[in-house]
Amino acid sequence: MCYEIRMEKHMREKNQSGPRAKKKVADSVRWGNVFLQNRLVLAPMAGPGGHSFRCLCEHFGAAMTVTELCSARGILYDTNFVRNHRYLRIAGSKNKASIQLFGADPADMKKAVRRLLAHPEYGKTLVLDINMGCPVKKVVQTGAGSALMKTPDLAARIVEAASEAAFPYGKAVTVKFRSGWDKDHINAVSFGKKMEAAGAKALSLHARTREQMYGGRADWTIIGELAAQTSLPVAANGDIRTLEDCYTLLHTYGAELCMIGRGALGKPWIFKSILNEENNGSPLAPRPEERAKIILHHLNAVLETQGEEKGIREFRTSLVYYLKGMPKAAFYRNKAMKAENYEELKELIQEFTQGT
Ligand SMILES: Cc1cc2nc3c(=O)[nH]c(=O)nc-3n(C[C@H](O)[C@H](O)[C@H](O)COP(=O)(O)O)c2cc1C
Repeated sequence: MCYEIRMEKHMREKNQSGPRAKKKVADSVRWGNVFLQNRLVLAPMAGPGGHSFRCLCEHFGAAMTVTELCSARGILYDTNFVRNHRYLRIAGSKNKASIQLFGADPADMKKAVRRLLAHPEYGKTLVLDINMGCPVKKVVQTGAGSALMKTPDLAARIVEAASEAAFPYGKAVTVKFRSGWDKDHINAVSFGKKMEAAGAKALSLHARTREQMYGGRADWTIIGELAAQTSLPVAANGDIRTLEDCYTLLHTYGAELCMIGRGALGKPWIFKSILNEENNGSPLAPRPEERAKIILHHLNAVLETQGEEKGIREFRTSLVYYLKGMPKAAFYRNKAMKAENYEELKELIQEFTQGT
């Protein structure tokens, strides 16, 4: 079926009133101008959401993963992508990865998008996502990330510039943003509509304000308001952990995708678990030996890309997530921080997973 006809059919279904089949997590779904295998995606996470972790989540059923945020300006000064390859790497990803950029200058964004999409590896990104939600001072001070929610006209020009650059490559631009700057400035709906008018083809909403950073509860009602008032597909994000959460967001709040962040850390099988539960009623709980195998696979993948010394340092952060809630977690965390080589880490992983 050609793209226009599929789009028309999709929009007809989206706008249909009256009873119709409830959305399922396992449904395939349009996102920008691609179709995803199901409605579960991994949120971008700078640090723990590196290439190895993303590949693991894809293996466990995430229909899309998003790279760690990468500076549009930084890319322009990085002639051969030497410094940024570790963030942009999407090879081995079975066409499930999207690249996320941040920046505060439309001209930078346009040039960065062109450079990326002309690249043989990065050009395979599913969509180009623009970060307008990062709360970190270093980013906000430059006018990028969540600061753009205070300058919606500039944000719109960035989306226009990115869309213009992405169009010849057949790629859609998507935007990830927050509920607003703080509780007195909740503007996700007007902001999302403005991004739509500027050319964005899908929206991800982290239903917290910048002021909340990562604390407090995400307010999903804002996702509902956004989904009701835009014709774009909306990815719900913030505090998603279970199939029930997904159903609430898909059925009550009109989301099209469920974007899982911290719920996947130390638990990359969460995607398969939710899909399993929908399919046959029982979530997936890997047995100790399977858990050890998964964690070791993650470790090996990190070491393969980063080398032993750097890889071990990087993997320790991920290990802390795998240890969360485990018996004697503090003891093993301490031990992990002192582990200096692969063998020590391997032994430790086998030891602590036995206690699960
Ligand atoms: C360690 C960490 C790094 C993050 N890095 C990014 C990032 O690079 N880009 C982005 O858009 N959001 C980033 N986020 C935000 C997440 O994508 C997500 O919006 C947030 O964690 C809320 O979802 P959750 O409640 O499922 O974790 C990050 C979050 C965490 C915890």
